[in-house]
Amino acid sequence: MALKTPAEVDAMRPAGKFIAGVLSSLRDVAREGMTLNDLNDHAHRMIDAAGAKSVYLGYHPSFGAMPYPGVLCTSVNDAALHGLPSDYVLQDGDVLSMDIAAQVQGWVADSALTIQIGTQTPEAQRLIETTERALAAGIAAARPGGRMGDISEAIGSIGRRGGYGINGDFGGHGVGRTMHEDPHVANLGRSRTGLKLNAGLVIAIEPWFMAGGDGYVIDPDGWTIRTADGSIAAHAEHTIAITRDGPVVLTARD
Ligand code: CO
Repeated sequence: MALKTPAEVDAMRPAGKFIAGVLSSLRDVAREGMTLNDLNDHAHRMIDAAGAKSVYLGYHPSFGAMPYPGVLCTSVNDAALHGLPSDYVLQDGDVLSMDIAAQVQGWVADSALTIQIGTQTPEAQRLIETTERALAAGIAAARPGGRMGDISEAIGSIGRRGGYGINGDFGGHGVGRTMHEDPHVANLGRSRTGLKLNAGLVIAIEPWFMAGGDGYVIDPDGWTIRTADGSIAAHAEHTIAITRDGPVVLTARD
């Protein structure tokens, strides 16, 4: 896998800053009565205005029944990952994950957050906060000299302690000029095992937890990943660079 030089990590900052701004804006505008397409269109306008390039639109891995039709993943309630934008109208209390990646000046950044629309319920708030705490712990464990398993265990142990369902599929990944590079960043694992972490490694870390069990199902569209038991799910993601001084969050929001 390719390690980035300090100059290359610096060159990735504009992409990270841009994606952070898009997610902040989406969080501010998302409300009851809006459709998922409205949110996708909002993100698409920001991408066009910035001269950025979506890396989702038209992306067609073998599992998708069709190329990805939007610039944003919108996963509501029991949908955990890769929910397609649609004319679904957001309802009070919906748990909404928004995930976006784009290329700016040749480099990609990838980030996601989960919010609840309108009325905040304790059940959803605890799930969202725990997912964010797991992301923060995973980032803190991303230090040169450590191992990939340090990140995975930090994430998984927080999810398990919260009593949440975790599935080892669909974790994080390397990020660079393209969205998905080696290595894989699992959400379950054992510390002091796996790949040695070196300065210059840029990865997306992305815990996703389910309020119920560990199982998931995939919609006929091949994209949307839902909890098998219909419980709600939450997802949080940042693109980070491991530097000699520790982790730097490229997609940090103000
Ligand atoms: Co990602």
